[in-house]
Amino acid sequence: MSRLVVVSNRVAIPGENRAGGLAVALQAALGERGGMWFGWSGRTVRGDSGELHEQRDGDIRYVTVDLNRADLDAYYNGFSNRTLWPLLHFRLDLVDYDRDTRLGYGRVNAMFADRLAPLLREDDTVWIHDYHLIPLAALLRERGIGCRIGFFLHVPVPSADLMMAMPDHRRLFSTLYAYDLLGFQTRRDNDRFQSYVRLYGGGRIIEPDLLQAPDGRRFRTGNFPISIDTAQIERQAAAAMSKPALRNLRTSLERRMLAIGVDRLDYSKGLPERFHGFERYLQRHPDQKGSLTYLQIAPVSRGDVGEYQQLRNQLEQIAGHINGAHAAPDWTPLRYVNRNFPHATLTGFYRSARVGLVTPLRDGMNLVAKEYVASQDRENPGVLVLSLLAGAAQEMPEALQVNPHDLDGVADAIATAATMPLDERRERWHAMMERLRKRDIHAWRKNYLAALESA
Ligand code: F6P
Repeated sequence: MSRLVVVSNRVAIPGENRAGGLAVALQAALGERGGMWFGWSGRTVRGDSGELHEQRDGDIRYVTVDLNRADLDAYYNGFSNRTLWPLLHFRLDLVDYDRDTRLGYGRVNAMFADRLAPLLREDDTVWIHDYHLIPLAALLRERGIGCRIGFFLHVPVPSADLMMAMPDHRRLFSTLYAYDLLGFQTRRDNDRFQSYVRLYGGGRIIEPDLLQAPDGRRFRTGNFPISIDTAQIERQAAAAMSKPALRNLRTSLERRMLAIGVDRLDYSKGLPERFHGFERYLQRHPDQKGSLTYLQIAPVSRGDVGEYQQLRNQLEQIAGHINGAHAAPDWTPLRYVNRNFPHATLTGFYRSARVGLVTPLRDGMNLVAKEYVASQDRENPGVLVLSLLAGAAQEMPEALQVNPHDLDGVADAIATAATMPLDERRERWHAMMERLRKRDIHAWRKNYLAALESA
């Protein structure tokens, strides 16, 4: 088996980051075959970008690169998160296109390629992740790298007409043709990418999931829905119930039911709409008023980007309004918390919640939806209310699926979830959990790597 090299903007360096499911899966893959994880160090330095740091853990090397403020602003805050992120989440209205940040994005990717190329061997398998690093394979190829290189896009692919609305779209997106395998979350993302290639990207579809670039190079595409470490989360959630944080939460609820949402504070998550949907629930279902408390955990994310700051202000205002209008002296309907919690504690929160609210306006997959289900008590599982615009909806038809723009629909789904009989809750949960056990994060990375290696 060839050595594996994983490349992503953030690197889960042991001991530093909280290891999420993706980090655990990639570390398992790296551990099995030996390899390297390469990416940004998470540090912003004065002076020049590009200093390398290396750390080892068994057979895994972690090699990271520092960025200076100007590079980070152009590459991460700028082009990645003010241009590509909104575009890929169908939000053309929020796209801020700027030639300087586009150049900075290219400059940082080229610097990554300069640092990474000398570390690669001819028979390596390289797996590059997400929209921060779209041109990296093309830049590595320019530096003489001929080994197998795959890409996985964690976020959605928008319609071809949105992609072509970005200035210079072809210059950027045609760099994807340098990969051997392009992995997407869902069949629909894969299809939308293929229609972009056909309509605006100058390429051709040769046979299903085999594409040809204008220069004749062929590459494959596929859909690989990302998942979670189901068994681990199941154990973690059960164990978390005895933690003080969970006991305190239960006591504070005073036997009321809990609805929970956990999302990065991001406009793609549909939080203002969800808050309004919850208020609509209180208005449309007055008989249920006071029986359910909604806890929204929303850690601040990308706080240097203006749109994220505005969203934070907006949510504070809506939360204040809802509680002002509906709270009672002994009950606060909405608890809105901007801090993060240890992952194990979150799984305990999920298990305590009768209703899981996952209503993004667009999401590549959404792992909170899957973690919510995996955390439930099999004897008394809660109900997932899930946006049909999240990738996860494709695999979770037993959730109560909603259109997050339809506030009445969200309101009624919350009411249905809160009163759903135990038999029906169990039935829906079983079907989803069985699928999650089969298609966990380890199956995901094995499927992807097998496809890359046979591409
Ligand atoms: O959803 C895309 C993604 O890159 C995730 O992989 C990651 O958890 C999240 O966004 C975090 O964003 P950031 O690295 O900007 O904090």
